[in-house]
Amino acid sequence: MSSAKLSASARSFDPQQLVRESLRHTHAYTPAVIPDAPPPRVIKLDMNESPYGPSPKTRAALASFSETNRYPDFGQTELRDALGRYVSRDPDTIICGAGLDDVLNTVMHAIIAPGDEVIISDPTFGVYRMLISLYDGVAVNVPLGEDFALRPQAVLDAVTDRTKLIVICTPNNPTGNVLDAAAIEQVVEGAPCLVAIDEAYAEFSRTSHLHLMDDHPNVAVFRTMSKFAGLAGMRVGYGVFSPEMARLLGPVVPAFHNVAMASRVAAIASLDDLDYLNGIIERIVADRDILAANLAEIPGVRPLPSATNFLLVELPTEEAKPVIDELARRGIFVRSFPHPDYGLHTYLRVTVGSTDDNDAFVNELNDILTGAGRTA
Ligand SMILES: Cc1ncc(COP(=O)(O)O)c(C=O)c1O
Repeated sequence: MSSAKLSASARSFDPQQLVRESLRHTHAYTPAVIPDAPPPRVIKLDMNESPYGPSPKTRAALASFSETNRYPDFGQTELRDALGRYVSRDPDTIICGAGLDDVLNTVMHAIIAPGDEVIISDPTFGVYRMLISLYDGVAVNVPLGEDFALRPQAVLDAVTDRTKLIVICTPNNPTGNVLDAAAIEQVVEGAPCLVAIDEAYAEFSRTSHLHLMDDHPNVAVFRTMSKFAGLAGMRVGYGVFSPEMARLLGPVVPAFHNVAMASRVAAIASLDDLDYLNGIIERIVADRDILAANLAEIPGVRPLPSATNFLLVELPTEEAKPVIDELARRGIFVRSFPHPDYGLHTYLRVTVGSTDDNDAFVNELNDILTGAGRTA
């Protein structure tokens, strides 16, 4: 289309017209309901963060970090070498980013043209839909089945000549379950497109699908330092790709790997402190099981089995939202899923926090639901 000269009246600046039409009504991610009146204390159990700070080696590395004046190594060689050793893959097949979300964004940016389709399986991580819409792609939902199981044949049946990507999240957020390995393999084997496996919580479940990459170049596995390493604030995530995909994606990544200097230092030190971090993982998993047992004692409350650092919990109320809002007024933030299409409007999702925070949550939830305080 050739450009035309503007009339004088059309020369005024209108940001509404500037932003792409399909993005004008994009909703920002809302992490938690912020109560009108500030709560007496804040216990954040809404974003699946670690309740623990950096590992001792990470703390020390950050304390002596001073190179704020230098740009990061655009190739992130040292970080990718450390990650490569951690996941036993060739560092050249690893793409880093400012969080796992950023790497997913890079992939979608590279492969989605307007109208292209991406298959997801709700209920799952909401950011996928947001990213798909950023590139004018179409999210094709093949919902999880009974017990939130992946339906491999239904996923393959949904593939069309516009399908560019299938996203599988395991363990799945927000349901917390590990998806069946044979079902995932069936999708990978039958898919003529890229299959992205989001393993943000793999360190808690001790499951991984990295081995599928040995025989299937259409697989990409996504990981993050946010959860198990307690580095959510540093923003370090990565994807492992086939050599050819990694080569094609490299130039699409902002500044090649988009990881800040301090974040790189923190991530490398964490990967050098795995004994400590494994202890943290064990503590979170043990606390999760105690939290689930305590929740199950509240009449009608049903925590679902979880392989992650969070629990999806069914409440004995018609809607979970009023309970979640009341928890927020009391300073305890958990996640709600009020949209009826999502099928989780009677559930809340709670992150496993410190022992004190978990106990405070159980106590307040019990008080709201039964009117009785509980000493956990
Ligand atoms: C399934 C899943 N993928 C990705 C992310 C984002 O990870 P990051 O902090 O590395 O962007 C999250 C965070 O909650 C998540 O639950």
